[in-house]
Amino acid sequence: MRVLVTGGAGFIGSEIVRALVASGHEAVVLDALLPSAHMGGSAPAVPDGVRSVVADVRDREAVAGALAGIDAVCHQAAMVGLGKDFADAPAYVGCNDLGTAVLLAGMAAAGVRGLVLAGSMVVYGEGRYDCPRHGKVRPGPRAEADLAAGRFEPLCPSCGADLVPGLVPEDAPADPRNVYATTKLAQEHLAAAWARSTGGRAVSLRYHNVYGPGMPRDTPYAGVASFFRSALARGEAPRVFEDGRQRRDFVHVRDVAAADVRALEALPERAPGSFTAYNTGSGEPHTIGEMAAALASAHGGPAPVVTGEYRLGDVRHITADSARLRGELGWRPEVGFKAGMKEFAAAGLRGVPSPSAV
Ligand SMILES: NC(=O)c1ccc[n+]([C@@H]2O[C@H](COP(=O)([O-])OP(=O)(O)OC[C@H]3O[C@@H](n4cnc5c(N)ncnc54)[C@H](O)[C@@H]3O)[C@@H](O)[C@H]2O)c1
Ligand SMILES: [Zn+2]
Repeated sequence: MRVLVTGGAGFIGSEIVRALVASGHEAVVLDALLPSAHMGGSAPAVPDGVRSVVADVRDREAVAGALAGIDAVCHQAAMVGLGKDFADAPAYVGCNDLGTAVLLAGMAAAGVRGLVLAGSMVVYGEGRYDCPRHGKVRPGPRAEADLAAGRFEPLCPSCGADLVPGLVPEDAPADPRNVYATTKLAQEHLAAAWARSTGGRAVSLRYHNVYGPGMPRDTPYAGVASFFRSALARGEAPRVFEDGRQRRDFVHVRDVAAADVRALEALPERAPGSFTAYNTGSGEPHTIGEMAAALASAHGGPAPVVTGEYRLGDVRHITADSARLRGELGWRPEVGFKAGMKEFAAAGLRGVPSPSAV
């Protein structure tokens, strides 16, 4: 299979390119090398024999050229993270949604009918909780006054009772809480519309918190694992926001790349015109505090500090139920939390030399 990997110079995309080549497929990379993701020209090397096009997915001609002879597209290109402030909104919508629309229009014109999209758990917002009286509930955004007072746990929207966080299935209603999350949801709707109108087959892998070697260093556009890892690289303690008890699912980048390859290989078996979403998580939820502690201990300190700071766009707990991906595509994550964090603590970040190289 010949696969166009957009964002193939990024953290996850470059791992997918390696996994495709290792599985005997051919990969072509299209990546704009965004400065927000590639500070200091730190793009990873493209494996031998992989064609690489430096272009934006919004560039119709470049996309048309890159799509020649392609069987399926693995669409990873996007601006990620929460950004600096709302002024970033046009850039997020441009890269992620206009970019996806231009890519899909190019695929429609070129007769490319297979798509695997990098989706995200952020489309679910606060996730799913159980109230002892009201069963499954979905709390709204947390009030700033509560966060400022250290009341981080969302309460039952009907009775105010304490809630128990649960696993989010794919059919949970979408509830994006920030600009990035909104653009990731719109990407899925565009992919579904493209599939219906062209008879294409589309899959969205809703990644949980991906971590591993090659993660970009901390910028407003990076994820929490990279903030902690960057602090440790500077000899500073990871700063854990809220009370550190926020639950997430940290999934290793090699496991995510394997899921992408599996989803690409299984595209021909899907119904034409279909769109299917799969949660992509390790199935092993951990708190942010546990993650900071595991990284700090594997790195040899300093120990994390819990600061009580908060970010308004953040949700409290979000953990996926990845049973559909395991059941339908036979995918199994292979890198456990402890071993993965140990490796990540020793590995380099993009834009920061690895400890062994210092
Ligand atoms: N890292 C995570 O934890 C995570 C979680 C959920 C979803 N995702 C999704 O996975 C995908 C890859 O993310 P990543 O963590 O590897 O980020 P990354 O920043 O390392 O990689 C993204 C790549 O896309 C490129 N890019 C961005 N906009 C582009 C455009 N308009 N045209 C061409 N190239 C463009 C960037 O130059 C970069 O190389 C994204 O779609 C992201 O939304 C990531
Ligand atoms: Zn209740």
